[in-house]
Amino acid sequence: MSGKNSNIHPVFDKILKRDDKERMLNQHSVVVWFTGLSGSGKSTIAKVLEQELHKKGYISKVLDGDNVRTGINSNLGFSDSDRKENIRRIAEVSKLFMDCGIILINCFISPTNIIRNQVKEIVGKENYFEIFVNTSLETCEKRDTKGIYAKARKGLIKDFTGISAPYEVPDNPDIEIKTEELSINNAVEVILKKLLPRIEYKNV
Ligand code: ADX
Repeated sequence: MSGKNSNIHPVFDKILKRDDKERMLNQHSVVVWFTGLSGSGKSTIAKVLEQELHKKGYISKVLDGDNVRTGINSNLGFSDSDRKENIRRIAEVSKLFMDCGIILINCFISPTNIIRNQVKEIVGKENYFEIFVNTSLETCEKRDTKGIYAKARKGLIKDFTGISAPYEVPDNPDIEIKTEELSINNAVEVILKKLLPRIEYKNV
C-alpha cells in the first residue's frame, strides 16, 4: 500500500466473520436499496417493510436521506459531487451493518446510474437489491407532503431532483413499484415475495 493509506493496517483475521453473525441471527444480510424521486414513497414503504420483517423475526435497519443528512452527512448538500459522497458514505456504512448480518433498508433518491453503480461496487452486486419506486413527478408534486416541490418551483431550492437536477430511471431494478397503481401493503407483499428467499438463512 502506498500514499496516504500506507500506515493503516486493518485487522481482518481473528475477528468474527459475517457468516458467524448471520448464523446467530438466522438470516442473510442484504442491502435493499430504494431509489426514486423525493416524495415517491420510498420511506413510507420502507417503514412498513421493516415492521413486517420484524414480525417475521428478521432484524433490519432503515437509513434514509432526511435522517442521515442531519447526522453523519450533515456537511453535504445536493450538488452532484455531494450526492455522490452522500451515497458513498451510506454504502460504506451499509457494509459495516452487513458485517453484523443486519438487513439494510436504504431510502435515497440516488438519482443517477453512476451513483447507484458506486453502491454496487462498494457493497458488492450480489448484496444489492434495487427497488425503483416509480411515482411520476406530477404525483410527487401533487402530494408534496414536505412542501418542498412548491419551494423548488419558486426557485428557492437549487439542484432539486426532477425540477432542476436530473433523475435517471434505473435500467434493471430487482423490483419496480408503481405507487399510483399499488397500495403500500401490496407493495410490501410484492417485495417480500422476492426478498424472503434471499434472507432466509441457508446453512451452506
Ligand atoms: S440524494 O440525491 O443524495 O440521494 P437524499 O435521498 O439523501 O438525496 O435526500 C433527499 C431528501 O432531501 C429529499 O427527500 C428532500 O426532503 C431533501 N432535499 C433537500 N434539498 C433537495 C434537493 N435539492 N434535491 C432533492 N432533495 C432535496
